[in-house]
Amino acid sequence: MKVVIPAAGLGTRFLPATKSQPKEMLPVLDRPIIQYVVEEAVASGADDILIVTGRGKRALEDHFDHSPEFDSSGKYPELEHLAELVRHARIHFVRQREPRGLADAIGLARQHTGSEPFGVLLGDTINVCEPPLLRQLWDRYEKLQATVMAVEQVAAEKVHDYGIVEGKEESPGVFRCERLLEKPDPSETRSRLGITGAYVFTPDIYSAIDRTRPDARGELQITDALQVLTADEPVYATTFQGTRYDIGDRFLWLRANLEFAYGVPEHRARLRPILERLLEESSDSVRPHGSPRSRRTHRQKRGHAE
Ligand code: G1P
Repeated sequence: MKVVIPAAGLGTRFLPATKSQPKEMLPVLDRPIIQYVVEEAVASGADDILIVTGRGKRALEDHFDHSPEFDSSGKYPELEHLAELVRHARIHFVRQREPRGLADAIGLARQHTGSEPFGVLLGDTINVCEPPLLRQLWDRYEKLQATVMAVEQVAAEKVHDYGIVEGKEESPGVFRCERLLEKPDPSETRSRLGITGAYVFTPDIYSAIDRTRPDARGELQITDALQVLTADEPVYATTFQGTRYDIGDRFLWLRANLEFAYGVPEHRARLRPILERLLEESSDSVRPHGSPRSRRTHRQKRGHAE
């Protein structure tokens, strides 16, 4: 299975952390986000991965490259899993020269995937699913022989952050797409089925991208290309089992760190008293990190405990 991972976005929602490092390299617990995405692809059966990068994203290439300082010494068992991933799948890179939208980034894979169907996972989204989300989608693709994407119910106030699917539910959780709208106003659609950013495409998506018009910002949106594709062939959306962490959102990044840490027994034992203390404190005393009051409170508490 070939998988394309667009990772060219500027990460503006995460500034200043992403001013000089790719958002895909932000760590969640002990690994950069992109490593989780590659792990999901490999666990889903990928043996060939194309990562679409852009300016300022060299760290992504370095992460999956051989590094003589670390790799040859055998001293770092922490790197063994990463080495294993690279043994399972060939990882290639292509650069998107200008930020011209997700469909433009996916379009850069055309020569690479050729006439085969292929999976797409976003480089800033971790899916915790069993079976892995892309595997679930691929199995669905094999039954339907049609493009299929993952969707989940989103709150009305979040509709404008998502591609939204309107369609007919043909079997439980599987919708044949009729209309797709990129980040609409909630008043424009009654649907609350948000596209989560995991897809399996037939190769026909490339000709649909060619026929897609840029949006108001001059970007080519994959949701608009999917709308074009619905005129040519069936396109499906499916709900899935599992949890998605869109790391482009700083709250969800924080949530992912907390939940992942909580899943590790040794971290959980140390986190629990901290979380309990935070919950006990009145909301008045919880101030942004670094504010004079919060530093004083922290010192006082530590002093008290020592
Ligand atoms: C992209 C897609 C959007 C999808 C979203 C999921 O938007 O364009 O259709 O719902 O990913 O995260 P972005 O979040 O990159 O702005």
